[in-house]
Amino acid sequence: MKAYAISDSVYCLHADVRTNDRFEGIWPIPDGVSLNSYLIRGEKIALVDLIRDWTDAPRQLEEELASIGVKFSDVDYLILNHLEPDHTGWLREFRELSPKAEIIATAKGIKLIEPFYKITQGLREVKDGETLDLGKGMVLQFFETPNVHWPETMMTWEAKSGTLFSCDAFGSFGALGDKVFDDQFSAEEHAFFEKETLRYYANIVSSFSMFVEKAVQKLAGLEIKCIAPSHGMVWRTNPKKIIDLYVTYAGYAKGPGEKEIAVIWGSMYGNTKAGVDAVIKGIEAEGVPCSIRRVPDDDVSYVLADAYKSAGLVLAMPTYEYAMFPPMAYAIDILRRKHVFGKQVLRIGSWGWVGGAKKEYEAAIEPLKWNSLESLEWAGHPGDDSLAALTEKGRELARIVKAL
Ligand code: FEO
Repeated sequence: MKAYAISDSVYCLHADVRTNDRFEGIWPIPDGVSLNSYLIRGEKIALVDLIRDWTDAPRQLEEELASIGVKFSDVDYLILNHLEPDHTGWLREFRELSPKAEIIATAKGIKLIEPFYKITQGLREVKDGETLDLGKGMVLQFFETPNVHWPETMMTWEAKSGTLFSCDAFGSFGALGDKVFDDQFSAEEHAFFEKETLRYYANIVSSFSMFVEKAVQKLAGLEIKCIAPSHGMVWRTNPKKIIDLYVTYAGYAKGPGEKEIAVIWGSMYGNTKAGVDAVIKGIEAEGVPCSIRRVPDDDVSYVLADAYKSAGLVLAMPTYEYAMFPPMAYAIDILRRKHVFGKQVLRIGSWGWVGGAKKEYEAAIEPLKWNSLESLEWAGHPGDDSLAALTEKGRELARIVKAL
């Protein structure tokens, strides 16, 4: 692993983490994730963002620093844009290797260092707009961007190279391998990362969409030549693309989203599944694209990404012990927590000798401001009349989505 030069004084370092472990303990990362750090060299040396001790991330970081002749003990300043442990988990070990390094964060960030890492010395808080002169014309400027992703978050700006070290903002899941810059990846790889960017956004950032918009507005005056996030590729050729994607994703939180329908379904014995198939037939007849996810088989991470993006939802579940099918109850709870608001929604499902999903479902979705079509439920297996009605419901939902 080596460091990648953004300019003659700015380098990207990245640790690729490939693990069965989940990001934040919740979200699967089958294609890994990169933990990016950046080194800025003036007369003094600054390191922007750290790593956690995850797989062999510390060894990768050490090797990349060595590729440009830098040791941890050479670092004068460690800039912590954000204190979440994926970027700070290795802080105590770093402190031992680099006792002289001053650790820099916002006031709120500094407050988190003691409880997490029991470090109280060598800390410096910086204010919004404050600068740090590294010498040789390299000056860092700090901009508070609260709640992207935690309240203490800031971004760091280096004007000479026009690089914005944006931390979680503009990030993605997916390990990078031996390429880091946007112009090094093929169209196919970009398509992969775009899906993983949406999933990362929906899983990690969606609840903070209002703050993403505020941060983008706040930094609009900077002449950004390079977006250098803490996860995912570095955008040196087309930084506008990732900024625009994030603005689009932030907009989904206000609805309606893309003219697509996310079909999320669970079934115990195939009776609800038969209804789902009939609904999909209707959606397809109207020519509206749809994604299909089964719970609990498909992880809620993917369910959330599809639902967050789509203007329409179909939620199909049987009644289970007088209430919602439990994996669907969990999925809806995640949609609520992640602000999947303003959708056009159809709920369907079968029941055995008595219903019950409806009451729990209606209470669960009450805060979500969804426009709900009339639900369709049936006992046991859907008969021909029910199947025809389900197909018509699919068409109705698709027509509403098309007309948005
Ligand atoms: Fe990548 Fe919110 O930490």
